[in-house]
Amino acid sequence: MEDFVDAETLLTTTRSVRRKLDLDRPVEPEVLTDCLRIAQQAPAAGMLRSNLRWIVVRDQALREKIAAPVREVGRESQAKYGHLVDARTLASGKYLLDTLHRIPVLVVPCMQGRPGGENGELSAFYGSVYPAIWSFQLALRARGLGSTMVGYHLIGREREVADILGIPADVTQVSMLAVAYTTTNTFQPAAWPPVEDITYHDGWGRPA
Ligand SMILES: Cc1cc2nc3c(=O)[nH]c(=O)nc-3n(C[C@H](O)[C@H](O)[C@H](O)COP(=O)(O)O)c2cc1C
Repeated sequence: MEDFVDAETLLTTTRSVRRKLDLDRPVEPEVLTDCLRIAQQAPAAGMLRSNLRWIVVRDQALREKIAAPVREVGRESQAKYGHLVDARTLASGKYLLDTLHRIPVLVVPCMQGRPGGENGELSAFYGSVYPAIWSFQLALRARGLGSTMVGYHLIGREREVADILGIPADVTQVSMLAVAYTTTNTFQPAAWPPVEDITYHDGWGRPA
């Protein structure tokens, strides 16, 4: 464990790490298990908790195979939508794709079942995974590791990755996390808009 940090620092400085991932330092399986054990405590919607599964991919040949479709869709997506994000994030996203096959661990959070139905069902389905993903990312950060969610293959290439990993057809991949130790610990809060600008009181559109 690193010798920091209070909860507020952890929550405000856990960033998507792409360029500062240590591609050469191995990640111990126990560290990943510890972080997943923490993620297991995250909230989930009732019985949907039991649908969550994690696939931890450490095997280099598998990581290389998985990286190919992710990179392909990612590059297409970045060419199409890159202008919508700031230049630094785009460059960082490109770097992540270039190095994806070298990142020591890829973690694929999955849900048994396929999402469907109206907003309530979709919210419960995905909402039963993302708190756990975020807890996992926070736990990694507390141990000197960093991560970034990568969702590109879910745009039309989910099956390809499923076949590589033997994931059954009725199981949904929710994301993919690129995980490694970080080369620095100087992460800062991001400059997002003030919360007052996006918070309404006692009704839509009503400022404080
Ligand atoms: C659902 C979701 C999907 C994401 N997919 C990607 C992705 O495919 N590639 C990537 O580089 N970052 C991805 N991100 C990370 C965001 O781009 C990132 O949060 C954003 O750059 C803000 O940076 P920060 O996390 O450091 O604040 C994703 C984040 C979320 C929540």
